Amino acid sequence: DETALVEQFEQVLARHDRIEPRDWMPEKYRATLVRQIAQHAHSEIIGMQPEGNWITRAPSLRRKAILLAKVQDEAGHGLYLYSACETLGVSRQELTEKLVSGQQKYSSIFNYPTLSYADVGTIGWLVDGAAIANQVPLCRTSYGPYGRSMIRICKEESFHQRQGYELLMTMMRGSDAQRAMVQESVDRFWWPALMMFGPPDDDSPNTAQSMAWGIKRDTNDELRQKFVDMSVPQAERLGVTLPDPDLVWNAERGHHDFGQPDWEEFRAVVTGAGPCNAQRIAHRRRAHEDGAWVRDAATAFAARSSAEPVE
Ligand code: ACO
Repeated sequence: DETALVEQFEQVLARHDRIEPRDWMPEKYRATLVRQIAQHAHSEIIGMQPEGNWITRAPSLRRKAILLAKVQDEAGHGLYLYSACETLGVSRQELTEKLVSGQQKYSSIFNYPTLSYADVGTIGWLVDGAAIANQVPLCRTSYGPYGRSMIRICKEESFHQRQGYELLMTMMRGSDAQRAMVQESVDRFWWPALMMFGPPDDDSPNTAQSMAWGIKRDTNDELRQKFVDMSVPQAERLGVTLPDPDLVWNAERGHHDFGQPDWEEFRAVVTGAGPCNAQRIAHRRRAHEDGAWVRDAATAFAARSSAEPVE
């Protein structure tokens, strides 16, 4: 009966063990996972666009090869995550439709434009850096397929972060104009990167329940703090300033104090009014429609292959 099932579910969580696809789970736990994993998958897929913008204009063959591989990795992450989500009983088709019709979200960060080539480095350093801070704890999330998909994704993300940092370091050793380009890019991306962790804890409707279920292992504010603490020495080493006058080491807390992002801007971006929301979705929708013949051909081929007798 249901009480015994709930008890068993709670025991698995208490042991910090994994819930697996065939295990009983509360409907709200399933729905929360579908929401978070789908959003995460969509972020990886939409996240290909801002960087893809620079593939044809990368300054050397080497930089172009690195960027192509990196963007392709993001597609791979999206696919693992869609597969993890499918174990909860939703299809990739359904998820894609919810993305292109605006019923499911993706990360706010990908609604900002990439205006200079330095943005490729800044995205690697700060955006992938924030993703790592958020995702390393998710390797220990309570749902098995999600946690396992995070392991490889985190390894690749940490490689991406170093690639971005190395690119910025190279530009910082270049001309004054290149150094200015890096600083301008960091100034634009710093606050949106802090917003990636979601609203402050006292304004985050999902955190308490997701922590109780072991889906999230840290709160939004805890992860944001960790990210700030890790970024400050990296910025110093790079020779850039972070655009926050309130950013200061607090010896008592053993952490940096920092200012708040513009939460009004965050709300606008999340509800569709960011600088690139319409463009990102229109592009994804067009790509999906243009790919219809490939899906049709693959489905027809699969049907014919399974109908043919095997020699
Ligand atoms: N961008 C877009 N939407 C956001 C963001 C953001 N940066 N932060 C929070 N939200 C949304 C939440 O999805 C939620 O809306 P919903 O209920 O309609 O889904 C609402 O704002 C309130 O936020 P929370 O209650 O804090 O939501 P949640 O507990 O889901 O926490 C978080 C948000 C931290 C993003 C969480 O979902 C998470 O850790 N997701 C996995 C990581 C991820 O998605 N990363 C993608 C970006 S990085 C990358 O992949 C390269």
